[in-house]
Amino acid sequence: MEKYLIQGGKALAGEVHISGAKNAALGILAAAIMTDEEVTIENLPDVSDINALLEAIAGVGAKVDRIDKHTVKINGAGIISTVVDYDYIQRIRASYYLLGALLGKYNRASVAMPGGCKIGSRPIDQHIKGFKALGAKVVTENSMINAEATKLKGSHIFLDMVSVGATINIMLAACLAEGKTIIENVAKEPHIVDVANFLNSMGANIKGAGTDVIRINGVEKLHGSTYSCIPDQIEAGTFMCLAAATKGDITLKNVIPKHLEAITAKLVEIGVDVMEMDDSVRVSCSKRVNSAIVKTRVYPGFPTDMQPQMTVVLAIADGISTINENIWEDRFKYVAELRKMGSVITVEGSTAFVEGQEAFYPAKVEAPDLRAGAALVIAALAADGYSEVTSIEYIERGYEDFDLKLRNLGASIEKVDVSDEKAAQKFRMSVV
Ligand code: EPZ
Repeated sequence: MEKYLIQGGKALAGEVHISGAKNAALGILAAAIMTDEEVTIENLPDVSDINALLEAIAGVGAKVDRIDKHTVKINGAGIISTVVDYDYIQRIRASYYLLGALLGKYNRASVAMPGGCKIGSRPIDQHIKGFKALGAKVVTENSMINAEATKLKGSHIFLDMVSVGATINIMLAACLAEGKTIIENVAKEPHIVDVANFLNSMGANIKGAGTDVIRINGVEKLHGSTYSCIPDQIEAGTFMCLAAATKGDITLKNVIPKHLEAITAKLVEIGVDVMEMDDSVRVSCSKRVNSAIVKTRVYPGFPTDMQPQMTVVLAIADGISTINENIWEDRFKYVAELRKMGSVITVEGSTAFVEGQEAFYPAKVEAPDLRAGAALVIAALAADGYSEVTSIEYIERGYEDFDLKLRNLGASIEKVDVSDEKAAQKFRMSVV
């Protein structure tokens, strides 16, 4: 187990290269096993969630060749099992995309039931509803979801709520179903479009991804492809909030500014300067920001995955901010940690009231989940003095080389083993 040692209080500045989108890559990797031909995926983020899914994919018998840090070749011809057990689901929840992929390709799949997690209960009833509508018999037994069909048939599906996971999972299964599938009330996130584009590059016939309705004409089979994942909009947003919180000046390279609009708009509203270029964005901030009201919504609204990072920025704003979380029921766990850093935040149900303070105090804090962990690192970098962030394995699930990228922006941050007191002492000595 490792932790970050941080000496904060510097304005961070420079350029940062944004990695491929984790949440797009998870869907794309699952889709890659749906052909018996070779698929090459580029711009893959090198994060532990992706590596865990690749292990799950190899676990069912697909050939997985990591060509380099950001490129993988997958060949699903040798798949020998359609069972994904609890070990994989426990390590990476998105292994459940293999349910849609295997069901679509082999008409059967068994995947361990994913439990709740640190941000909420996370049911998957809409995924199951979609598979059933396509003609699969779905039975949950001994914590395994078993789905089976003689032949999947296209259907008209109306999702009860907008779900990223259900949209991707149903889209996977439906692209090899017989006939036409219409999925209504779908998610519109950039990663939905990316997964659909990838499937189309393999010969699928999917239209409407990025709108409320996806139309799929089933095809007989999919073929090999080479595809590059889109940049990670949440990693980008995290560095944008970092620039705002440390009163820095950061240029993000390899981004799609359109995907960042909700984050950009909120930062501009509170007084941050954001300059958009073709595939880069420069974010700078020289004064205390203003307070704001933030409501998380499905895309193109303000993303829930940016809620903790934006709360950190608003915790040192001038005035009282309101953060309303509308996607997950339990995504304010990090507030207790921010209070250790001097923040004054009250949570009532799904709303946090943030009384902006002049600054953060340095403190020892623990990451409760991926995005909240990144938010606490931002707070520690903004605090003038020595902080520690533990449980960083959550952060490494979704941020590639986070400490390295931060150091390149001028941050004093080091990753050490939690028990390595000597390294911690050495770091403290080096920064005084
Ligand atoms: C995806 O999760 C992301 N994960 C999450 O990012 C992100 O927070 C979320 O979408 C919302 O944008 C991946 O893409 C791997 P949902 P997902 O299905 O697909 C309810 C991160 O930090 N719901 O859109 O699991 C659900 O409880 C992670 O990278 C049902 O009730 O989210 C939630 O309230 C964390 N029944 C809402 O819908 C269902 O069958 C949205 O969930 C499915 C979902």
